[in-house]
Amino acid sequence: MKRIQILVIDDDAVACEFLQEALSREGYAVDAFTSGKEALKKDLSRYELLMSDIRMPEIDGLQFLRHVREKWPELPVILMTAYGSLETTMEALRLGAWDYISKPFSPEAIRAMVHKVLEVRDLRQRRMHGQPKLIGEPQFIGSSATMVGFYKQLARVADSPASVLIEGESGTGKELAARSLHQLSARRDKPFRPVHCGAIPDTLLESELFGYERGAFTGADHIHEGILEASEGGTVFLDEITEMSTALQGKLLRFMQDGEVRRLGGNKVRHVAVRVVAAANRNIDEEVGKGNFRSDLLYRFVVRLRMPPLREHKEDMAQLVESLLKKLGYPSVRVSDEAMELFMAYDWPGNVRELQNVLEQTLLLSPFVVILPEHLPARFCLKEDAFLPLLPPLEEAERKQIIQTLQTTSWNQSQAAQLLGIDRKTLRTKIQRYGLLKEELP
Ligand SMILES: Nc1ncnc2c1ncn2[C@@H]1O[C@H](COP(=O)(O)OP(=O)(O)OP(=O)(O)O)[C@@H](O)[C@H]1O
Ligand SMILES: [Mg+2]
Repeated sequence: MKRIQILVIDDDAVACEFLQEALSREGYAVDAFTSGKEALKKDLSRYELLMSDIRMPEIDGLQFLRHVREKWPELPVILMTAYGSLETTMEALRLGAWDYISKPFSPEAIRAMVHKVLEVRDLRQRRMHGQPKLIGEPQFIGSSATMVGFYKQLARVADSPASVLIEGESGTGKELAARSLHQLSARRDKPFRPVHCGAIPDTLLESELFGYERGAFTGADHIHEGILEASEGGTVFLDEITEMSTALQGKLLRFMQDGEVRRLGGNKVRHVAVRVVAAANRNIDEEVGKGNFRSDLLYRFVVRLRMPPLREHKEDMAQLVESLLKKLGYPSVRVSDEAMELFMAYDWPGNVRELQNVLEQTLLLSPFVVILPEHLPARFCLKEDAFLPLLPPLEEAERKQIIQTLQTTSWNQSQAAQLLGIDRKTLRTKIQRYGLLKEELP
């Protein structure tokens, strides 16, 4: 197999040797230059990774990076900084360095970084741009015992006309369950009509559901067929049913008892065969206790289904992540083991929808192909770093640099500020902002 070629640029020949030694042991072929200017005279496209020191005579690491970006924009570059200037490191990341490492570093640390960068590069190369989102009906994902138990329940009640009440936290898939019930039933070719009870004012909701005759109220200048009538033979999905007024609940109860619909302002009674499926994300028994939900209506629901929250079936996480990435149009992106660990440790109050949003947001903000912990929103804390929420990559880099410098100067802040090229007040503000405490750091 062809060996991966790496180019090292450092004005310090000893540093070059150190890297050649550390990396060739891993099977990489490592060339070295002690001048960026010399290196730029060559065709660097045959290298798969460049590693450059920042502070060098002639042209420094940043200038070198700029040239490389222009000529070989896809070529990954790692910058190596002595505790040089903080601004320089930030600038390097902004200019498109893939990562940076602070000197001195161990052979293990640099090998791990090289490995990570090459891995990200591989996946990025394989990334398919603009993959269309998967078409077709969304489907439940997950093969945990919890989900399989749920599918069984769903399948058992799907083909009966029995009304179903689906309970579960936000984002657990209640609407998906309602659609699945419809799809799995003999009604699948008849209408499925979702009605978001919480989003429509009550009087409007009533006329939407039951319809009205001309002149039923001011503005009713034509006959309007209600959703119940219009869904004959199909399914009406009453989402957030607890948001309905108790008066309207009474009217719905009568409909569920005898299947009769009388339009507003009309006398004619029509028989309608519609299956009612409802969803609630509030605790419905509590709502009954508070008098917000009629118990007689609750008893009209023959079946109650409970959607399991995501934290009860985390075994499905990997499968969910993979499918959601596909659904979002990024089939070749993957979540690193470290980020997956954070997903497994998190509670997911917003359930599958929250997972979907986190992935979507992360894909939008980070160009990488492997989702790493530092790409995730701040609420995903690293356990060993529990006192600090995760920061965006640039700030995380700044934080790392400050910690290192403080360690180098044994927490002498004026010295550290000097080394970082910022004034002491700025340093103090940053120490506070990042919550750096001497006692908590190694
Ligand atoms: N087990 C699952 N497998 C695949 N996708 C799921 C699953 N659960 C939920 N989803 C997806 O998550 C999103 C939210 O699901 P849905 O709208 O059905 O939730 P909900 O329970 O109605 O939430 P809310 O109470 O906030 O309205 C949808 O895009 C849905 O396709
Ligand atoms: Mg919903």
